[in-house]
Amino acid sequence: MSDERLFTLRNRWFATSVFATVGVAVVSALIGFVWLPSAQRDASFTGVWNAICSAAGVPRVWHSGDTTVQPTNRLSAVEVTPQMLAHASANSIGRGATLALRCTMCHGERGMSQANSPNLAGQYASVIYKQLMDFQTGARTNAVMSPMAVNLSDQDMRDLAAYYASLPRPPAQRKVSDSLAPGIVSHGAPMRNVAPCAACHGGIDNKAGSPWIDGLPAAYTKAQLIAFAKGTRTNDINEVMRNVARNMTPEEIDAASAYYARELNKQ
Ligand code: HEC
Ligand code: HEC
Repeated sequence: MSDERLFTLRNRWFATSVFATVGVAVVSALIGFVWLPSAQRDASFTGVWNAICSAAGVPRVWHSGDTTVQPTNRLSAVEVTPQMLAHASANSIGRGATLALRCTMCHGERGMSQANSPNLAGQYASVIYKQLMDFQTGARTNAVMSPMAVNLSDQDMRDLAAYYASLPRPPAQRKVSDSLAPGIVSHGAPMRNVAPCAACHGGIDNKAGSPWIDGLPAAYTKAQLIAFAKGTRTNDINEVMRNVARNMTPEEIDAASAYYARELNKQ
């Protein structure tokens, strides 16, 4: 027994293990390179060569079709920083006041809307500038507002932003501990991944680029939340508002809209 050579095919155990190993390799190769690729519908994975390349992770140069996903809508091209347009000159504000004569019809004499258009008084300059840019580039669309932004120059938009930011904003010394504040505003909905509105829009904290929404007409706020939820307004960077709005219930949308509008009426 001890004289018997181990590594020879005449050794029954050695032969069996060699054939078994080869058999497993062949079967795996057939599964991996023939069966799985032929079951694939995606052209880039069919065929033995494609299967080998995709398993090895090499670039798929054989792939002719362009599968790069292009967004169907334009995205906002504006980057907002906390310091953006923070220091406006008196000159800029003055020019903005003149330009704003065209806007009073809808946004009110001093930026406080009497209709259901958004207020602009005291809005952060960066927000006004960004929204005007977005209307101009088509990242945000509205039948009424889009044509208003088309012919504004970059300087016009900066001046308008400076002017409106300089006006007194709707007073809203709300506290989020206030019993009037709906849960969605003060606490959000953690189970649905919704941060409190007040964490971005003021009250708890203000995140750069988040508009001042106190005093906005309820109909406007509600319409915007629904537009974000449905994806008809898509100019929010990184989908911050779309992610919030689509996880809100209709009751929460109503409650938040009413809350932010009611602050104004309390004055
Ligand atoms: C005919 C009415 C009308 C006129 C005139 C008008 N706007 Fe508007 N504006 C609107 C409406 C309506 C909206 C809300 C659009 C929406 O629902 O998306 C809006 C939205 C805006 C917003 C976005 C505000 C926000 O909180 O997101 C800005 C900024 C703005 N307008 C600035 C201007 C400026 C500056 C002018 C003048 C050059 C102007 N608008 C003229 C009706 C008007
Ligand atoms: C993570 C931060 C964040 C949270 C939380 C958040 N928002 Fe926003 N919200 C934003 C930003 C940023 C924008 C501006 C989007 C853009 O660039 O157009 C915005 C825009 C809006 C607008 C449009 C305002 C306008 O003038 O057009 C409304 C209305 C709004 N948010 C309501 C809410 C409500 C209600 C909640 C709570 C349920 C909420 N947001 C929670 C960041 C936030």
